[in-house]
Amino acid sequence: MLIPIDRQAGTPLHRQIHEHLAQLIRREILADGERLPAARQLASEIGVTRSTVSQAYDGLQAEGLVRTAVGAGTFVTRTGLAPAPPHRIARRAAFDWERFLADHAPTTEDASLGELFAAAPPEGPVINLLRPIPDPALAPVAEVRRTARAVLQLLDADALDYGSPWGYEPLREVLGRQLATEGMDRTDDATLLVNGSQQGIDIIVRTLVAPGEVIVTERPAYKGALRVFQAARAQVRCLPMDEESLETAALERTLRQDNVRLIYVTPTFHNPTGATMGPTRARAILELARRHGVPILEDGCFRNLRYEGTPVPALKNFDDEGLVIHLGTFSKTLFPGLRVGWIAAPQQLAQRLSLARHDMDLGSVTLAQMVICRLHEQGEIARHLERVRAVYRARRDALLDGLERHLPEPVQWTRPAGGMSLWVRLPEGLGSLGAVRRAAGRGVLVAPGSIFDPAGHDLDGFRIAFSTAEAPDLVRAAAILGKALREEIDNRQSHVAAAPRLPVV
Ligand SMILES: Cc1ncc(COP(=O)(O)O)c(C=O)c1O
Repeated sequence: MLIPIDRQAGTPLHRQIHEHLAQLIRREILADGERLPAARQLASEIGVTRSTVSQAYDGLQAEGLVRTAVGAGTFVTRTGLAPAPPHRIARRAAFDWERFLADHAPTTEDASLGELFAAAPPEGPVINLLRPIPDPALAPVAEVRRTARAVLQLLDADALDYGSPWGYEPLREVLGRQLATEGMDRTDDATLLVNGSQQGIDIIVRTLVAPGEVIVTERPAYKGALRVFQAARAQVRCLPMDEESLETAALERTLRQDNVRLIYVTPTFHNPTGATMGPTRARAILELARRHGVPILEDGCFRNLRYEGTPVPALKNFDDEGLVIHLGTFSKTLFPGLRVGWIAAPQQLAQRLSLARHDMDLGSVTLAQMVICRLHEQGEIARHLERVRAVYRARRDALLDGLERHLPEPVQWTRPAGGMSLWVRLPEGLGSLGAVRRAAGRGVLVAPGSIFDPAGHDLDGFRIAFSTAEAPDLVRAAAILGKALREEIDNRQSHVAAAPRLPVV
């Protein structure tokens, strides 16, 4: 127990100790019946004599705030307690932290999301299709419990030390083998474990991009990456996508015009659109990156969640020059709570990334990585993946059927072969917020286009995440979205019809 002592103050030391402990007892920070440290122990902890502490304890006993049981110690008692004074230390005026925030300090989530939750009916059922995350109801809780228990049995002091910034070696080896199986093993690559791929994005951007420098990504783009880019004070260029990925013509133009430092793409089951880049596009993008000397960060977050067709090679598969950094995670295939992801990067860069990672949090959470490693060794991850793939595939199909039945004619949507979300494309100029708000008012929450734009500008589209809702809810949601869209389109048309006609000049 550390008690603040002021040796310059006029108040005797035993009185200072007495008053401090009395405060803690009155504020119930020290609970009724709690044992105070032995006088000798407390005296040595705070650098006073034992008799000073004994004097303080005697004073507390006289006040009825502690009782001493011979041979057992000194215990808090509430018999002498007067009504409790206010809990918090009164301050003269609140310090204005807003004035001290750096320009790039993170702001709260997109305001439109708060608005949606507020618009949802407070009583009625809400179908929340906002988050492309594993359904918590499918989490392999029993398997993780069993595995974590076994891991704890094996725990040694090493696992309780600061973890290596590279991560738990046996799991790195597992991932190295997995990357090799998928044909992504360059001999000069190294694998670095991180606390989720989000931390991976952060470390890579800190290492490669200085404030003001340019990062290229997709429009719409993953919000979490956009937030990292913003915190790094990078300039973000979001380029248009077609049904596969970034349009190459737009990428080429930007690479020619700007001094681009990093291309960030999610080539397989892109969040939010679910789009997947085929080999021809992958080669074209790599060739452009090679010609302009720009590294690519390939986010493979949803790669293993394929529901149909044969696996598509990653960008890393075609990477002859070592300019692709590949990012993976267990967050979507398994669960996000243990925070385990990985970076596969050329050794020379990986070394620097491991230093950046060390500066950020001093190392890995070894225990979490041990649990994941053992889950893998026991085949639990593969079994789990098999199970959830079937469920998510059925949910995707239910949603696609629902959209087919209920969405009005000019509206289109993507049909992803995997991942956890799809993108509804709206007629040009309609924006998403109107329809998304209408749907929220009827209890269906989907993510508006504004979330996926770096400046928060609305886009002509919205994301539906289908992984956490049951099939009947997805069909119901599609019907509600269809109604909201019809109203929004009619509303827009009547406004256009009512607008004054101007002579064409
Ligand atoms: C495209 C993409 N990348 C990265 C992440 C971060 O995942 P995690 O940090 O849990 O690995 C997410 C999370 O949703 C994502 O959608």
